[in-house]
Amino acid sequence: MAHESESGLPVQPVYGPGDLDGWDPGQQLGEPGAYPFTRGVYPTMYTGRPWTMRQYAGFGTAAESNARYRDLIAHGTTGLSVAFDLPTQMGHDSDAPLAHGEVGKVGVAVDSVDDMRVLFGGIPLDEVSTSMTINAPAALLLLLYQLVAEEQGASADRLTGTIQNDVLKEYIARGTYIFPPKPSLRLTADIFRYCRAELPRWNTISISGYHMAEAGASPAQEIAFTLADGVEYVRTAVAAGMDVDDFAPRLSFFFVARTTILEEIAKFRAARRMWARLMKEEFGARNPRSLMLRFHTQTAGVQLTAQQPEANLVRVAVQGLAAVLGGTQSLHTNAFDEAIALPTDKSARLALRTQQILAHETDVTATVDPFAGSYAVERMTDDLEAAAVGLLRKVAELGGAVAAIERGFQKREIERNAYRIARETDTGDRVVVGVNRFRLDEEEPYEPLRVDPAIEARQVERLARLRAERDGGVVDRELAALERAAEGTENVLYPMKRALRARATVGEVCDALRGVWGSYEPSGHL
Ligand code: 3HC
Repeated sequence: MAHESESGLPVQPVYGPGDLDGWDPGQQLGEPGAYPFTRGVYPTMYTGRPWTMRQYAGFGTAAESNARYRDLIAHGTTGLSVAFDLPTQMGHDSDAPLAHGEVGKVGVAVDSVDDMRVLFGGIPLDEVSTSMTINAPAALLLLLYQLVAEEQGASADRLTGTIQNDVLKEYIARGTYIFPPKPSLRLTADIFRYCRAELPRWNTISISGYHMAEAGASPAQEIAFTLADGVEYVRTAVAAGMDVDDFAPRLSFFFVARTTILEEIAKFRAARRMWARLMKEEFGARNPRSLMLRFHTQTAGVQLTAQQPEANLVRVAVQGLAAVLGGTQSLHTNAFDEAIALPTDKSARLALRTQQILAHETDVTATVDPFAGSYAVERMTDDLEAAAVGLLRKVAELGGAVAAIERGFQKREIERNAYRIARETDTGDRVVVGVNRFRLDEEEPYEPLRVDPAIEARQVERLARLRAERDGGVVDRELAALERAAEGTENVLYPMKRALRARATVGEVCDALRGVWGSYEPSGHL
């Protein structure tokens, strides 16, 4: 009896030549680093350069997170990845009533250029690549990063990294949106234009499927809804007057890696081919870099268990292998204790060691796309692509990603799949080792990392000092200029940068924009 994949597609017990009847490698594969990029975005892939080991980290104050980044660099990480606390992600200062109890909890608190300066103290910004997981206020954190780089004397055209800046998936999953879709997309286009002019090596967006997958999306839904968001962003920038080849090379993506390794490899290969065809056929992109789906992967957080947490080391290793065999450009491997609390120094180091073993002890970096031509993986790649194209067409029929979001389409489809997963886990049809099979009568005690509750008070004091020291008149003038730009069509990043340089806070800048654009309130879904 055929097994069903995570996407609900049949998986044959044996694949053979017949499963690839009519399959044309010239059409479906191409060469590595060439259209349609099925085999990978670079001709040499890891034989030329291993993927970036980019561990998502950040908690407490900027000083604590700075220490963790320097520790990760010392242990061999090759890219930084900043986790911000919820108040920062939602555009509130640490002393805002809404921030109480969340300051420094799920990431680092950044209220101003002062905090950004501490966060990257002693780290030369023209020598590292930094990802920042920030969405609605992404422009502000990018500008704060650039201001600190300017203070270091780093030239803007050497700065490289990524802002997640993908608000559409926040409406679908996660929820850290601020403004309604229209001004949010305007801000996205302003960021694209600003980076093209000022920060040419910066990746302007990380169009994410990860959070939809964590919310329950199947692999087919993950790539379909992510690429649908990508299409919406491209349409927005083209409608704002940009040529597709002016910004598309700096788009990037972010996916999950599940334990179902074969389907995940097929998923990554299908996604690259779909994006290349979309950009060439629908948007007429001519620059090959506009057709390349470059992506970051994080191993599946929802597949970690709190029970027998050390077993997660194996899950993360398998998931990391799936990402690498699927051709990721950058990878975060979860720490084994993350289902319990923030990673300890030791569990964070073990997570990085997992990548280093994959990169330096296995032979997966010795050859490009080793599954090419495999009866099973090529058939799974084609089947997954067909399923995802079907979903992409449904979103298009609803009027595109934003229209579908406003009807709750993606959210409903994901919730339906999440319910199926939960039901199968409850009945035991879906085995979760340590949870519904192979359980321990008595779980062993585990001492998690605890975040110091005094962080909030310290951060509030820092803000009071900043407001007392700065020139409030200049801040008010620059915020008023920002409001005028937001009301008009001027690129808001220029007045925003002046306000942030005058030590306006993240909350003050976002409040100025809220005053002009309003805040997003999800309508009742049809
Ligand atoms: N041949 C030739 N050149 C190569 C090469 C090869 N084999 N391998 C790499 N290179 C070059 C690239 O062209 C690039 O040069 P360029 O900048 O001039 O183009 C350089 O080497 C770096 O390579 P990549 O760009 O492939 O790798 P990066 O790591 O720099 O970038 C990315 C990868 C996916 C494009 C980028 O967008 C990125 O780093 N994304 C990370 C996103 C991230 O970390 N997100 C975290 C989210 S956590 C979260 O959401 C919260 C929680 O809820 C999960």
